[in-house]
Amino acid sequence: MRGQFNYSKKVLKHFRNPHNLGSIKQPDGVGEVGNMACGDVMKLYIKVEGNNISEIKFETYGCAAAIATSSVITDLVKGKTINEALEMTNKSVIDSLDGLPPIKIHCSLLSVDALNEAIYNYLVKNKKEIPEILAARHKRIEVLHKH
Ligand code: FES
Repeated sequence: MRGQFNYSKKVLKHFRNPHNLGSIKQPDGVGEVGNMACGDVMKLYIKVEGNNISEIKFETYGCAAAIATSSVITDLVKGKTINEALEMTNKSVIDSLDGLPPIKIHCSLLSVDALNEAIYNYLVKNKKEIPEILAARHKRIEVLHKH
């Protein structure tokens, strides 16, 4: 059984060498969320071309799990359509990292929520229709992370 600090090889690889780290100048959408429990913050930037996420970057003041999940989510989402990106769950993120210690599961939510917020921000800015599921997530995220 995995202990609190017994991360998978993939988590350690992404933590040591995060992909798509940094910010995007003039992004099409930005999502920023914070974790009330630990105080960690995540910011995720996207560029959208047509209906595809052409570029995605993140910045985080977060733990190893937050960094690794953000890194892997940028890999999973880059080049995907908005709708495909909205299907991303924290389970898909965790699975592609070969799991996370149970105590770190909440950290993976941070990256998924930041992605949803970045897409929400893009759709609002461009006066595009907000899918119902995204509107519901945005409400939940607002209550959870922003108060
Ligand atoms: S402990 Fe805060 S995001 Fe992991």
